[in-house]
Amino acid sequence: MKKYIHGYSETEADRLGDQASILASHLHYDSHFQPGSTVLEAGCGIGAQTRILAAANPDVHFTSIDIDDQSLKKAASEIDRLGFSNVSFQQADIFNLPFLPNSFDHIFCCFVLEHLPDPHTALQSLKRTLKH
Ligand SMILES: C[S@@+](CC[C@H](N)C(=O)[O-])C[C@H]1O[C@@H](n2cnc3c(N)ncnc32)[C@H](O)[C@@H]1O
Repeated sequence: MKKYIHGYSETEADRLGDQASILASHLHYDSHFQPGSTVLEAGCGIGAQTRILAAANPDVHFTSIDIDDQSLKKAASEIDRLGFSNVSFQQADIFNLPFLPNSFDHIFCCFVLEHLPDPHTALQSLKRTLKH
């Protein structure tokens, strides 16, 4: 994989948090899923979007994945601190997803595809996990 341009520093974690908060009303005005549904969040990073999704959809289960284990640890710690129980975190590569076809009702993917070497293949991989 090509080196991820933003890296994983504390400054980058702050940037992701600020970015998600500032853009929340634009990005999440329609992030409302039907109760009981399942959502794959691909490339969750430190959980900056996860916390917004989880709060707005208490009866929806999110499976939030990232390729970077340290980011996942930060995300899990934040979701735990906030007291949400509707998110599972898992280390996974979008190009090699460990999920069966037809696993999820929805996919949420934000600020990720533009960093990938082959976004088209990434979308095909994600689509395979969506229920038809
Ligand atoms: C710019 S961050 C965005 C994080 C989060 N979606 C947000 O909006 O705050 C991009 C994330 O994509 C993850 N990522 C990059 N390539 C990936 C891959 N092949 N599979 C899973 N995650 C990947 C990175 O580790 C990073 O956490």
